Amino acid sequence: MSSNIVPAEFDILVIGSGAAGLYASLCVPTSFRVGLVTKDTLNSGASNWAQGGIAAAINPQDSPELHFEDTLKAGAGLCDLQAVQFLVEHAGKAICSLIETGVSFDAHGDKLATTLEAAHSHPRVLHSADTTGKEIVDILTTKVLQQSNIQVLSHALAISLWLHPKTGHCQGISLLYRGQICWIQSGAVVLATGGGGQVFAQTTNPAVSTGDGVAMAWRAGALLRDLEFFQFHPTALKKLGAPRFLISEAVRGEGAHLVDELGDRFAFNYHPSGELAPRDVVSRAIFTHLQLTRTNLADAHVYLDLRTIPPAQVRERFPKIIQVCQQWGIDVFQAPIPVAPAAHYWMGGIAVNLLNQSSIPGLYVIGEAASTGVHGANRLASNSLLECIVFASQLSHIKAQTKFEPILLEEKTIPTSLIKSLWAAEFEQIAAIRETLPNLMWQSAGVYRQGEVIDVAISQVSSWRHQLARLNVNQYLFNLSPTQVIKLETRDADQQLRTAIETLNLLDIAYLILKSSAFRTESRGGHYRIDYPETQSSWQVHTLIQRECIYPHEQSITLWGN
Ligand code: FAD
Ligand code: SIN
Repeated sequence: MSSNIVPAEFDILVIGSGAAGLYASLCVPTSFRVGLVTKDTLNSGASNWAQGGIAAAINPQDSPELHFEDTLKAGAGLCDLQAVQFLVEHAGKAICSLIETGVSFDAHGDKLATTLEAAHSHPRVLHSADTTGKEIVDILTTKVLQQSNIQVLSHALAISLWLHPKTGHCQGISLLYRGQICWIQSGAVVLATGGGGQVFAQTTNPAVSTGDGVAMAWRAGALLRDLEFFQFHPTALKKLGAPRFLISEAVRGEGAHLVDELGDRFAFNYHPSGELAPRDVVSRAIFTHLQLTRTNLADAHVYLDLRTIPPAQVRERFPKIIQVCQQWGIDVFQAPIPVAPAAHYWMGGIAVNLLNQSSIPGLYVIGEAASTGVHGANRLASNSLLECIVFASQLSHIKAQTKFEPILLEEKTIPTSLIKSLWAAEFEQIAAIRETLPNLMWQSAGVYRQGEVIDVAISQVSSWRHQLARLNVNQYLFNLSPTQVIKLETRDADQQLRTAIETLNLLDIAYLILKSSAFRTESRGGHYRIDYPETQSSWQVHTLIQRECIYPHEQSITLWGN
């Protein structure tokens, strides 16, 4: 069901409607009234764009033990063993549950089809053509809309977490919704806000991936982990004017070759596994190869040649990739696809235990926004959708208070004249930063990083954060008391306020990524420092951040709630 009125309370609020948020909403006990808040439409998010598939060791030659080993290897020494074991052991059950819910995976006869992706020792990626995410999201969305205990608030942007002033318990959120900034109380909050790829100029992520959950949790004092680890996917479409559309790794898994301008298959010069080496290795191989062979790096790219795969197989497995490439004038049966690396997946996030509990009581986190410990320093392909489903199902154990003290609200209306005069100049400043920040981050915290460059970027980002903190609009967004409701006289301001909130969130996560990248003076997984190119055993520790405090930590997060 959908509603025009802003409800005052829910038993549980789930923020985000990707695979993690949708599945979590279905898993919480039906006796709870659930509010599912999403800042766009229900199918917004990276989940809907997932192509390659979902990993699970379902073949007789394969096993959860082998899946465990591959995940640890990709994670480069920083996976949480307990979390990975939990993931791989529950993978089969997660797949069965998706199939029971109605998800249809490709099959050969009566056997589910599986493909190979980079760094997997066995073909174990289940798929639904090259639109696996859409298949899962569509089915889960249908189920959510049938559930009478779930109320969907779409085009509703969560701004801040609301903590109880005495207990510190998370008891709701503030929200921008239908021309109002208001507060909703709840017994527990589940953040499922996805990743933050939009902080980089080159990204495969959708527009909604602005790291809002991580920024909100940081401002509220939650413990965050391993934020320097960002995965750069080697093969995003690189064509002038085209979005950085992902060309799935499954394409290489099925036999496509990565070649340079001269047609040389260069990936084996950099790693014995060639195109199917871990993503960070292939992304760096492409960058290094371009640096060696090209003078103008700005729009440099290599090519992915699908003509090595039988055409019928390409048609069956990659209809979406064929269609999007065609739209941009590329016939994959006649010519290779121009590709280059782009920011794809954030391994770091809000630290949680196996029950998805963060360090803030009452705050749960699932999906890409969480750091469960399953990905370590680098994620194994197709383990993310699996993590969303396996960990969201843990919310069947969620506990939440269901009685709330009534709160007297004080409403304030912001006249259109104020928005047009006073805020207009402020929105211009915000828009300028929104445009510049991703380039700065791509240059300073992209595939290759260097201490001095990171330090310059930290100064710039800090100066922007101070500049925006002084704006008038800021006080309406982040400094309201929970009794204050702001009504905007014009709904036009909704979009501007959304840009303001997302830009402030992007600045916060940029600051955190840069600080963590400066802190880790080694290279590991998705984090590569040209001034510290080696992996150091002394650095086999997590990077924890809480407010302004950053420190190394050896153990897994079993510190609370278990
Ligand atoms: P998302 O699916 O990103 O959903 C986040 C949700 O939160 C959205 O609904 C968004 O609107 C909402 N939201 C965000 N901020 C707010 C806010 N402030 N207020 C309200 N709502 C908010 N992984 C795999 O395992 N296999 C694959 O094949 C695969 N392919 C991929 C292909 C692409 C192009 C991309 C970008 C990623 C791919 N990944 C894949 C990674 C995987 O899709 C994501 O990590 C995963 O889907 C994240 O799910 P999520 O539910 O955590 O977040
Ligand atoms: C892909 O299809 O290449 C993406 C898979 C993933 O990110 O896990």
